[in-house]
Formats: sequence, structure tokens, C-alpha cells
Amino acid sequence: MTVSQPKRLIIVSNRLPAVFRQEGEDWTLQPGSGGLITALAPIMQRSQGLWIGWPGCGPQAELGPLLKQFREEQGYQLLPVPLCEEDVERYYRGFANEVLWPLFHDLLGYCRFDRQNWEAYGSVNRKFASAIAAIAAPDDFIWVHDYQLLLVGDDLRQMGVKQRLAFFLHIPFPTPDLFRRLPWKMPLLEAMMEYDLLGFQTLGDRRNFVNTVITLLPKVEVITRQRHHTLLRHEGRIIKVGHFPISIDFDEFNDGAQSPEVEDAAWYLHENLRGRQLLLGIDRLDYTKGLPERFLAFERALEKYPDLLKRISLLQVVVPSRTLVPDYQNLKELLDQLAGRINARFGQPEWTPIHYAYRSLDRTQLLARYRTSEIALVTPLRDGMNLVAKEYCACSVDNNGVLILSEFAGAAEQLGKGALLVNPYDIDDTADAIYRAINMSAEERQRRMALLRGEIRRNDVHRWLQWFIESAQQEPPTEE
Ligand code: UDP
Ligand code: G6P
Repeated sequence: MTVSQPKRLIIVSNRLPAVFRQEGEDWTLQPGSGGLITALAPIMQRSQGLWIGWPGCGPQAELGPLLKQFREEQGYQLLPVPLCEEDVERYYRGFANEVLWPLFHDLLGYCRFDRQNWEAYGSVNRKFASAIAAIAAPDDFIWVHDYQLLLVGDDLRQMGVKQRLAFFLHIPFPTPDLFRRLPWKMPLLEAMMEYDLLGFQTLGDRRNFVNTVITLLPKVEVITRQRHHTLLRHEGRIIKVGHFPISIDFDEFNDGAQSPEVEDAAWYLHENLRGRQLLLGIDRLDYTKGLPERFLAFERALEKYPDLLKRISLLQVVVPSRTLVPDYQNLKELLDQLAGRINARFGQPEWTPIHYAYRSLDRTQLLARYRTSEIALVTPLRDGMNLVAKEYCACSVDNNGVLILSEFAGAAEQLGKGALLVNPYDIDDTADAIYRAINMSAEERQRRMALLRGEIRRNDVHRWLQWFIESAQQEPPTEE
């Protein structure tokens, strides 16, 4: 941490930054995926704190040697909270990812409400709270993350933990009208009010939360509304609700994109696809990411603007995610079909319109794709922030990339001026943005990308941390 801090930083999230897997007799460590890990890992490397979370396996695993190795290599400590199969099935798959995830992304149709899963969510949140309570010292900074652990603050209070507790939600917060559909809305909201600082990604999310609280908990009083936070009074306590758009380690991406390995890999990529402008998509396989809509928009662009034929290719990398959830399996099938159909319709012996890969990338390959692609397509139906958008700009070191960004990604609040904003539900709108990006003048590309890079460089993840911790440490005003 770069702020004045005598305290140890304890981060608590469902998933640790590394997944522990058994291969034959041996246990191995693989990096986890997703924006939460990308943002928090560099912070932990600097602050040398403690990260508490699920190691991706159950209690039978022998993790001691790997944990020691991780600490030596990364400079911070992991404390695993192992989960048994039933916990994974009911808490992680059933409640976190089949209720909270779709509901908070405005996709009510994907929700599967089940009382037993809600109960399992409660008991796993208590398990996390017990792990924290067993290890936390009174001056530690305890910071709980994301939708899987909304109840942990309340559990810690019941266990007698008195210190200030902070929470950050990485995904959107829905409107009161949507939140009302949740059968367990009252206990969930009451529990969230046990944190002292609640952080959201955007002003819109913060407003949704405050309006939900006012609607459902009429005894809560709004003390003040300021630019960056709202203060609420609830049962004699003051709760701060702020918005803190998360970011990336800009220098790490900017410098990495200029390393010789990345430059070589980028050269090979483009050499293999010579004469084409590359459109890039990098996403976890998730129905919130608008992937079928993106493929259809690419198809519409080829249909509507025949001068694009053989001049562009879409490089789409889909990182496997939540494979236990049936809706994710169905989406995989749909994408396979769509890519096959579009390639069969437009492809020619020397030109494949969509290069679609279902796998994760190592860092060199990821940065090479960012560095070399002329256009990034970041078109989620809804997203808390979307760090891929920021990473793409940080790696566009020649200032010549174009970012096509969904207006429903949290990132649009900061990047809206430099990006081409689209409504991903409107296939023609995205197709037209693709055409506009392809034909954009060098001057306009440079001007837009310089704006985007300046914004992300100024507001990097280290500034985000400093801002959040300072906000958490400010004493609430004394009661009149
Ligand atoms: N990413 C990854 N593995 C890959 C490709 C990308 O972990 O093979 C990272 C990517 O660099 C980014 C994160 O996954 O930091 C995705 O974050 P984002 O905020 O865009 O979406 P999320 O997955 O959190 O919904
Ligand atoms: C998003 C969520 C994270 C989550 C990540 C990967 O970034 O905000 O909390 O860890 O997706 O999902 P997974 O279910 O694999 O942890």
C-alpha cells in the first residue's frame, strides 16, 4: 500500500488468485481468471498482505508446500477456505452464480431460486467469517469482495468483530425494482448494512443501492449525499456508500506490451493474418458478455458492407468459466454453431472471418493480441467495469487502436469519450461501429486513444486502492 498504513491488508474473496488442482498424485497451481484477480493481485504484491479465499478444491488437499512456494514467489500470503462438493454445488453454482450473478446483471430470466441454495450461501459465508475471525488482529484492514460474500460482514459482527469493515462489489447493483424479485432481499440487504464502507463500481450502481435501501428499509436515513459518497444512518450506525471505478496496473500492461517477447508474438500473429485489420474479443465464457450478439454484429457488418470481405478478421478468445452451470454449457454450443455458420457463409480458402478459440491465454499471448489488434470489441450486455477494455488501451502503445465499447459496461462512464459506444442489443448499431472503426482516420484514432490512455494512466489500480482506503479510514461525522 502506498497510503499511510500501519495495518495489514486482508483481502477476502470467494476465489484465491490461484486455483489448486490435483494432477495424478501431485497438486499444481494455476492462475485464476477474471477481473477481480487482475485488479487485486498487483495490490497484494505491493502490500504483502493476506488473501483469504477458496483454493478451488476441498479439505482433503495437501496445500502446504504450494502455499509456501506461492508466498516466496509473490510476496504475500494465502489462507485457503476449502469447500466441499455440496458447498460448491449450492453456494457457488446454485446461489452465487444462478441467482445473484444474473439478477445483478439485469438478466432475471437466468435466475433459479432455491431455498436450500440460499441456506448454503449463508453457511458458507459463515465459514469465511470464521476463517477471518480466527486470524484477524484488531488493527488489520479487513476488506471483503464481491457478490459471493455479501453476508460476511454481518457474520463477523455476530462473532464479536468490532473493527471497521469494508466491502467492494465488482459487479453491477440492480435497480430496486429488480432487487425486489429476490425472495431473500430483506436479510441480504440488512446484512450488507453491517459493513462500514460499501464500495460500488459506478455512480449508477451506488444510486441503485441507496434507492434500494431507502425503498426496502424505511428506517434508514440519508445523512448527506456528496460527489463521491452518500452517508446513511441505520440503527445508530453510520454507513458510507461510495463509488470507486476499479482499474488495472497501467504501467505493467504498457511496459509489458513493449517487451521483446510480446513484440515478437504480435509480429507473428499479424504476419499470419497479413493484409487484414484484426478485431479482438477477449472474454470469459459468460452470457453477460454479449458474445452471440457480437458474432451476429460481425456477420451483419460483412453483409452490409461487402468491401470488408477479406479485409477484416475477428479474433475471439473465450476463456472457459463456470462449466458446472448449464446455461454456460448451452452458450458454448451456441457460439460453436454461430462461428461455424458465419465462417461457412463468408469464408474463402485464403480467409477465415472468425478465429474462435475456447481456452485461456498466457500473458505474452494476451498482450500480443492487445498490442496488434486494430480494434477491440468489448460489448457486454452488462458488466461491472470490464478490465479487458482498459487493458487493451494500456497495450495500444502506438495510440492506433479503436475501442468499441458497450454503453452497459461500467467502463463506459470513464471511457465513453474516447471509445465508440454501442448498444450491444442493437446488432446494426454495432455493425455500423465496426465499419466506422475500420475507416477511421489515423488522426482520429490517435486522438481517441490518447484520451483513453491518459484516463487509465491517471486512474490506475494503485490510485483506486489509495482512494478506497482513505475513504474507509476517514472517521464518520459525530452525531449531532
Ligand atoms: N484474462 C484471464 N485469462 C485469459 C484472458 C484474460 O484471466 O486467458 C483476464 C483479462 O486479462 C482480464 C480478466 O480476465 O483482466 C477479465 O476481466 P473483466 O473485468 O474484463 O471481466 P470478468 O471476467 O471479471 O467478468
Ligand atoms: C468476475 C467476478 C469474480 C469472479 C470472476 C471469475 O470477475 O466478479 O468474483 O471471481 O468473475 O469467476 P469464477 O466464478 O471463476 O470465480
